[in-house]
Amino acid sequence: MRRPIIAGNWKMHKTVAEALALVRELAPQVAGEERVEVVVCPPFTALHAVAQALAGTRIALGAQNLFWEEQGAFTGEVSPLMLKDVGVKYVIVGHSERRAYQRESDEEVAKKLTAAFRAGLTPILCVGEQLAEREAGRAETVVGAQLAADLTGLDGAAVQKLVIAYEPIWAIGTGRSAQPEDAAAMAAFIRRKIETAFGKEAAAALRIQYGGSVSPANSREFLTQEGIDGALVGGASLKADSFAAIVAAAHK
Ligand code: 13P
Repeated sequence: MRRPIIAGNWKMHKTVAEALALVRELAPQVAGEERVEVVVCPPFTALHAVAQALAGTRIALGAQNLFWEEQGAFTGEVSPLMLKDVGVKYVIVGHSERRAYQRESDEEVAKKLTAAFRAGLTPILCVGEQLAEREAGRAETVVGAQLAADLTGLDGAAVQKLVIAYEPIWAIGTGRSAQPEDAAAMAAFIRRKIETAFGKEAAAALRIQYGGSVSPANSREFLTQEGIDGALVGGASLKADSFAAIVAAAHK
């Protein structure tokens, strides 16, 4: 059985004080949802403080990015070892906002995935198509190509621990979520691709999330779809009540 995983991607939001206030409010609200893995991904500046606040709770800590080298002259970058050092367990890799604004390539994403596994972090790999690509009937082609390139160099043992977030770009921050059936069809496509490339065991264990305008109102529709094992939540993860409601929907 794959354990549902609900992760909050806070993006570029929250000072340290605001981050602490949020997790202190959130922790008691999700304390009873034992079947669900709950992850928060604050900005780098708040990771250390949030790690302390999460001690003794069942919320895990994630980061939003990492660099592929362990140390060195890479001004402005943060290494996998530094993330491990402050208690990070998960790391988002290849989010579409980084692919768009930082021009992050599939080659860089692949290096980051390898580096994350080497450090013992669990990556949450983001893939997804643009609206024009979906409308042209190319969504699977685009996501398939991302997977083939991004997973270069990984083996089945790594891939079975991986989390993949299917996030159609047009659904992110727009209030226009995908149709749950379309998200489920894409999740099934991703699992088939993984099975072909890495084998049955990896495909059966790998967890696939849906992301893109997930809210307390629509989360259940996604989380009850066959093959969708959780959600990567942006805007609705910035408030304890709405994020806890999504976690509760996954628990049912
Ligand atoms: P929203 O939930 O705000 O649409 O963001 C989704 C997302 O990009 C999570 O990584």
